[in-house]
Amino acid sequence: MKHYRAHLLVCAGTGCVSNHSFKVKEALQNELKKRGLDQEIQVVTTGCSGFCERGPIVIVQPEGIFYQKLKEEDVPYLIEEHFIKGRPVKKFMYLPSEEKTTVPLLSDIEFFKHQRLIVLKNRGRIDPEDINQYIALGGYEALAKALTQMTPEQIIKEIKTSGLRGRGGAGFTTGLKWELCRNSKGDEKYIICNADEGDPGAFMDRSVLESDPHAVLEGMIIGAYAMGANTGFMYVRDEYPLAVKEINIAIKQAEAYGLLGDDILGSGFNFKLKVSRGAGAFVCGEETALIASIEGRMGEPRQRPPFPIQRGLWGKPTNKNFLARGKDQ
Ligand code: FES
Repeated sequence: MKHYRAHLLVCAGTGCVSNHSFKVKEALQNELKKRGLDQEIQVVTTGCSGFCERGPIVIVQPEGIFYQKLKEEDVPYLIEEHFIKGRPVKKFMYLPSEEKTTVPLLSDIEFFKHQRLIVLKNRGRIDPEDINQYIALGGYEALAKALTQMTPEQIIKEIKTSGLRGRGGAGFTTGLKWELCRNSKGDEKYIICNADEGDPGAFMDRSVLESDPHAVLEGMIIGAYAMGANTGFMYVRDEYPLAVKEINIAIKQAEAYGLLGDDILGSGFNFKLKVSRGAGAFVCGEETALIASIEGRMGEPRQRPPFPIQRGLWGKPTNKNFLARGKDQ
């Protein structure tokens, strides 16, 4: 494996892409090549780093220096100063309003410094299109453990013990939901990840899918194994082209690595995952409407009971967990 003395992490989340981060990335690659530094310094694209209003964002590792609002024309000076002269460039760093001193590290900015990332722990650290980077940070270890060392019942017990629960109001415990689905009678069961956030201005689901799609896949496969589901659906807004692209790439990579499909990791467990694109209907965030939409019908809610956990997709037991928004993560 090739070793680099530094990595330039260019944010390729939707916010930074719309601020031309790909042009900055290209300029960085060209400049490094021109100066013969391209074998020492690697340019990597990542998902959203969380400070979209300051995009395009570039983070220099290993120091973690955070550059913001970069333009293509800034790149030669940045490379010259930071990598040739060894002087990080203050004028591209973040200067909080009403302060006189720049903050060189993202982790030192007041808004970020008290955060402990859980769902987004790989945010801005890995290339979402490279499964090897996810694996290098311990990705799919939990899946391997679940499939080879744990029974479905043990996994459900673990999820119950964790206290994980929905936060949409009812606070239903995720472990109990999984258990109900496991105990529902049916020759076939389904799992759905609801990544269709219709709430105006919300982009939690998008951010997770763009930053760390394999984490979502891994969670879904473990959940499917625990519940006894062999088919899953990722329901994601069609207005999120980058999220749709990243999850499709992740699915293909996971299939190629034997992490999706038949006999996953030699465990005998089969699971296939399909992407279903929502058409931007807010109501399809409601589970029965979402199920109708996946089935190809008008996305309208229906009366419950029966609950989807008993009769969901095509009349089969179906478990649906939200992707983000603080629910069932
Ligand atoms: S999209 Fe780049 S920081 Fe959010």
